Amino acid sequence: MDLAAVRHNVRVLREASPGAELMAVVKADGYGHGAAPVARAALQAGASWLGVCTLDEASDLRAAGIDAPILSWLHLPGDDFAAAIAADVDLSVSSRKHLAAILEGAARAGRTVRLHLKIDTGLSRNGVDPAGWTAVLDDATKAVADGAAEVVAVWSHLAHADAPRHPTSDRQAARLTVAWQGARDRGLTPIRHLANSAATLTRPDLHFDLVRPGIAVYGLDPLGRPAAEGPLRPAMTLRARVALVKRVPAGEGVSYGHEWTTPRETTLALLPIGYADGVARRLGHEGRMRVLLAGAVRPVVGRVCMDQVVVDCGDAVVREGEHAVLFGPGHEGEPTAQDWADELGSIHYEVVTGVHGRRVTRTFSDGARTSPDGAGAGASW
Ligand SMILES: Cc1ncc(COP(=O)(O)O)c(C=O)c1O
Repeated sequence: MDLAAVRHNVRVLREASPGAELMAVVKADGYGHGAAPVARAALQAGASWLGVCTLDEASDLRAAGIDAPILSWLHLPGDDFAAAIAADVDLSVSSRKHLAAILEGAARAGRTVRLHLKIDTGLSRNGVDPAGWTAVLDDATKAVADGAAEVVAVWSHLAHADAPRHPTSDRQAARLTVAWQGARDRGLTPIRHLANSAATLTRPDLHFDLVRPGIAVYGLDPLGRPAAEGPLRPAMTLRARVALVKRVPAGEGVSYGHEWTTPRETTLALLPIGYADGVARRLGHEGRMRVLLAGAVRPVVGRVCMDQVVVDCGDAVVREGEHAVLFGPGHEGEPTAQDWADELGSIHYEVVTGVHGRRVTRTFSDGARTSPDGAGAGASW
């Protein structure tokens, strides 16, 4: 994991949104990259907020000693809002009932809670249903008057940000502004925020006071354009060390089901990584997966197993213990997370968040320095 790349990406995003503050979204353990190290790097590069889904994600950042403002936006009945409020976590509100539970937590914590009232402007996920907005504003205004709450923001999330001129984005922005104006009409002074990575890079008119990029912080283009064409630098490289090398005669079946048979005598390299670690099993179909190993891009042959994949190295000299790159920035010809997404009919978000588990050692490089974090056998990123 390249923290210098994270800092570079945050600087690119800051330059693209000079009039707004920047919230680095580090939910899902920093999109699989490591929430706390990414958060620290993003803050160093000019982010002033952090965004997460769950209260646990917020409390993990606090436990790591991070004291920047954090917004948490996805909660369940019974969540411990008092603890989150005591830890200075800003909370999103999605309904009147949700607000009541948060205010009950604030009372227990004996603290004023900082609220971001989320209006559902057209995604139909979380956020206050427009029909319920007036009641939420009434309750929030009363809580502010009572000293129980501060309304920090009115915000929403875009449905079509990856299609920059999609008319739905304009409609959502207009609805957000109406909802925000409703808060101002009650004497509240919230900021407005709406833009994810795609809107941060392509829709300056939607930046408002704060932008909330996630995927672009990790160097992946939100519109799926190849890394080489844009200013972002992918931060994650997934590597595995060769566990075993063997010479196999022609006509031998390889991996479960023998979907691939050696067409000639060849050298096979075994990598100790599989679908339990985030290498989608579908990548094994019809030779879709390639790795950079011993100076060339080589095919993974046969099925991807839970813990292992096999690489056909032909007559190349491959050593046990050397690294194969499964995906990375692409500079050395290795596949990228976008390549995997294309093969899988998915998006790079799913590829990088899918790499996980105790067997994958996370290593952070920062310019010249490299530091391991966690334990694992053969694979690392
Ligand atoms: C509410 C919210 N804001 C911002 C983001 C960041 O989105 P992206 O990773 O597309 O920049 C997300 C991620 O899905 C989100 O859920």
